[in-house]
Amino acid sequence: MSNRVCEVLNIEKPIIQGPMAWISTAPLVAAVSNAGGLGVLGVGFAPDEFVKEQVEETRKLTDKPFGINTVLIPENLDRLTKLISEIKPPVIYADTLINVDEQICLHYFKLWHDAGCKIILKASTIADAIAAEKGGGHTTVEAITILVPQATDVLSVPVVASGGIADGRGFAAAIALGAEGIEMGTIFMAAEEASVHPNVKKALINAGDMSTVITGYSTDEPCRQIKNKLSDEMIEIEANNTKEVAAELLRTVAESSLKKAMIDGDMVEGAVWQDKLYHLSLKLNLSNLFLVK
Ligand SMILES: Cc1cc2nc3c(=O)[nH]c(=O)nc-3n(C[C@H](O)[C@H](O)[C@H](O)COP(=O)(O)O)c2cc1C
Repeated sequence: MSNRVCEVLNIEKPIIQGPMAWISTAPLVAAVSNAGGLGVLGVGFAPDEFVKEQVEETRKLTDKPFGINTVLIPENLDRLTKLISEIKPPVIYADTLINVDEQICLHYFKLWHDAGCKIILKASTIADAIAAEKGGGHTTVEAITILVPQATDVLSVPVVASGGIADGRGFAAAIALGAEGIEMGTIFMAAEEASVHPNVKKALINAGDMSTVITGYSTDEPCRQIKNKLSDEMIEIEANNTKEVAAELLRTVAESSLKKAMIDGDMVEGAVWQDKLYHLSLKLNLSNLFLVK
C-alpha cells in the first residue's frame, strides 16, 4: 500500500507505533520499522544522553526510518532542537497537551523541517489539528469515529487515526473514515520486542471491557488504566478533594507508577495505562499486525 503517509514518512505500510515511555525502546522501534511501519522511541521526557543512546541502538538494528518523541511544551523545545542537529532523527513525533500553540508550531516545525526531519503531531481536538497544520506538521487525531471525518474535511495534510485500534478491522475502519494510516500503542506493549515486564503483557491480554478506569478526569490529566489498588486510591482522591488539591495528591501517589508496573511488574501499585480500551485477547505477533495492505 502506498499513500501520502507512506510517501512522506518513507515507509511501506502506513502504520505507526505510538511512543510509550519506558516501553518503546530500540528493540520494539526497530522491529516495527523493519516490518515496514514507523517505530517511535518513547523518549519524550528523557535526558539527552538516553535519547542519544537509544537512537544509536536503533540505528544498529535497522536502516529504516524511525521517530523520536517529544512533548510540545516550550521548555522542551530549544534543547530538543539542539539535540536533533546532532542526532538527525528521520521523524519527530510531537505529543501535545490540549491547546496547541500555532506560533510554537510555526517556529519549531520550520527549524525541524530545515534539519531534514519529518513531523508527526498528535492532536486530540480539531482546533489543535488546524493550529498544527499551519505549522506544517502531520496530524494524528484520537477518538476515531468522531474526529477523523471532521479532521479530513478541514485539513489538507494526511491524517492518521489513533486510539483503540489493534488489528486489521480497526485499520479498515480508519481508512473508511478518511484516515491515511493508523497509530497503535497499547497492543505493541504485548509484543515480544516491548521492554515491559511479563506481568504487564499478561494483564493486557487478560483485560476485558470492564477492566479499566479513567483516572485524572477531574484534574484535566485523564488516563485510562487497568483497575487496581493504585487506581482505587486515585479515584478516591478525586472524589474527596478540590481540583487543585487532587491534582497535587494524584501526582504524588502516581509518581513513578508507570515505571513500577512496566519495569518491576508491580500490578498492585503500578499503573498499567491503556490509551483507549481494547480487548487484547489476540494472539500477538508483530508481523500479523501488518497484514492489511
Ligand atoms: C503505556 C503507555 C505509555 C504511553 N506513553 C506515551 C508517551 O510517552 N508519549 C506519547 O506521545 N504518547 C504516549 N502514549 C500514547 C501512545 O503513543 C499512542 O498515542 C496511544 O497508545 C494510541 O492508542 P492505543 O493505545 O489505543 O493504540 C502512551 C500510551 C501507553 C498505552
